[in-house]
Amino acid sequence: MTTDALVAPLGTIAIPARSEMRSMTGVSLGTMHRAGVMLVGSANIDLVVRTRRFPLPGETLQGSEFRTFAGGKGANQAAAIGRLGGRAQLVAKVGVDAFGDQVIASLTACGVGTSFVLRDPIEATGVALITVDEHGQNTIVVAPGTNSLLTASEVRAACSAAEFSVLLAQLEIPLECVLEANHQAGERTFILNPAPARVVPPELLSRVDYLTPNETEAEILTGILPTDTQSCLAAAMILLDKGVQNVLFTLGAQGSFLANAEGGRHFPSIEVDPVDTTGAGDAFNGAFAHLLASGEPVDWCIHLANIAGALSTTKPGAQASMPTLAEVLDRAAR
Ligand code: RIB
Repeated sequence: MTTDALVAPLGTIAIPARSEMRSMTGVSLGTMHRAGVMLVGSANIDLVVRTRRFPLPGETLQGSEFRTFAGGKGANQAAAIGRLGGRAQLVAKVGVDAFGDQVIASLTACGVGTSFVLRDPIEATGVALITVDEHGQNTIVVAPGTNSLLTASEVRAACSAAEFSVLLAQLEIPLECVLEANHQAGERTFILNPAPARVVPPELLSRVDYLTPNETEAEILTGILPTDTQSCLAAAMILLDKGVQNVLFTLGAQGSFLANAEGGRHFPSIEVDPVDTTGAGDAFNGAFAHLLASGEPVDWCIHLANIAGALSTTKPGAQASMPTLAEVLDRAAR
């Protein structure tokens, strides 16, 4: 990639004309028979407390509302696809407990295939303790529970029994499961959402078609915080040099940035009033994977994924906030 190829500054994608979008909408709806997306990842129950601000270390704060939601990055991304009307199957592990039942009920309600959601009779379902402040920002601490018991052989068995054209994984499960998922993807498209932030082995990076870190994850992977065109490019170059085919930074309210051998490009997002940003990255990843699996052009996939991510912040909860295809397309047409 050369910097000459960069389209800069931010905000330079040509958004399709409304008439063009209508025909693209037809394509999206007409391609649902395609093989769909296989997801290998985590499933949690999120215990969420709203608070005006986050507590300091050692401080006890009086919060406000408490709610439980189905969460976990893998399950959220699968739910995002289901809510868009896409075909998603999730490989995950939950407990034989009420939270495990709640996870499966939420996935089923979203239209996600749960035949590969396994249950462990002893360990508890993963739990995320989440605080959401008055700006919709969050802090999350995860007790992984059954997520840490998913095995590579279970991933292998599920992937070899399923039909899919895109495989989407995150890092909230044991690394050997992610490596196996990558192996099972074979010639199919492999998307890695490197969340939560942790170091990724070089042999995995070199086999990733789309890597989708947020700013924090990008900094852990490259040592550079991508905040503007220059830093996005510099960080992306490091990852491209390691063999990643396409780097797709998610930049919150700023949208996203795609870099590959052809150059780098910023895709702005839409303006919303966020109430809860939990799962926004998952909405983006799920939407992107689904649209890519449906054969949509990459620019269009990113544009709609930005909208899905932004819309998800306008409602509380992770899976509960994933937008429908009609909501995304309505916003795209404005
Ligand atoms: O990405 C948001 C998710 O991270 C939450 O749903 C929580 O469960 C953690 O996995």
